[in-house]
Amino acid sequence: MDLNAVLEGQKEEINRELDRVVPPEQTPPVDLHRAMRHSLFAGGKRLRPIMVLEACALAGAERSLALNAALGIECLHTFTLIHDDLPCMDDDDFRRGVPTCHKVFGEDLAVLAGDALVFLGLDLLARPAEGVCPETTLEVVRVGTRTLGSRGVIGGQVIDLQAEGQIPSLEVLESIHIHKTAFLVMGSLEIGGLIGGADKLHRERLREYGRHFGLAFQITDDVLDVTGESRVLGKTAGKDQQQQKMTYPALMGVDRSRQEARAHVEQAVASLEGYGQKESWFFRMLAHSLLDRVS
Ligand code: IPE
Ligand code: IPE
Ligand code: MG
Ligand code: MG
Ligand code: MG
Repeated sequence: MDLNAVLEGQKEEINRELDRVVPPEQTPPVDLHRAMRHSLFAGGKRLRPIMVLEACALAGAERSLALNAALGIECLHTFTLIHDDLPCMDDDDFRRGVPTCHKVFGEDLAVLAGDALVFLGLDLLARPAEGVCPETTLEVVRVGTRTLGSRGVIGGQVIDLQAEGQIPSLEVLESIHIHKTAFLVMGSLEIGGLIGGADKLHRERLREYGRHFGLAFQITDDVLDVTGESRVLGKTAGKDQQQQKMTYPALMGVDRSRQEARAHVEQAVASLEGYGQKESWFFRMLAHSLLDRVS
């Protein structure tokens, strides 16, 4: 099996299904729906929704049970990106290979498109899957809200903004990366696991994988900001240094950051030990693939 072929197939499915659940552009207010669709369908690897589906499968259930939740997670992720790019935050002009939402539609609509994606995302998380009990669905929504809230992603974004221009410290940096990035990965895995019927121990293992995967993911994102090309990244490279962001390369340089990412990939893979080689194939390969991006 080829990881890229699997990812590509799942991405197509996510894109097709997202198109089905997001209001068409002609739906009033037309500009709002155009802005939401602009950012959602600009591209994007769809990693988090794919992880929701795969976590559901790893728990032993049919992947399709977690489809609505997966779509919800992608809406929530896209909300974080639209707001992250705003002039009052990272002030970015490009995202997913196209001009950012506020560049095309203005800041007012970009803020509101992000807001609307939060509610669409939560609506999708709350849609019950066949055979999944209401208590589980409620827990899915609660994991979603806690993941994004002030002690989760949004809290991480605040620490990130407040750390601009500060002398980097590993403690602050880890806290930024865990909250702004790893939390959504952990939440995606837990939600997939919950829908798939995973017990508590199993969900904790998934979250452990997600923590290390998320840290490795954000460290490689930091490295790519230094070493990557805007054309390939679909966003402007070199922005972190320009904005004096607290990043791993700023603290320890690119080479040690790569080593750090590798260590987290290894720890992510180690947290899959309780599963068989075959059933955990996808998550092991996915973790290793992070290193290909920065080697
Ligand atoms: C970007 O996430 C935000 C970070 C956490 C670094 P992705 O790199 O997954 O972005 P898309 O969804 O593929 O555009
Ligand atoms: C973004 O981190 C994390 C969230 C959007 C929550 P970055 O600011 O590093 O992401 P990019 O580089 O703009 O994608
Ligand atoms: Mg940011
Ligand atoms: Mg940013
Ligand atoms: Mg970045």
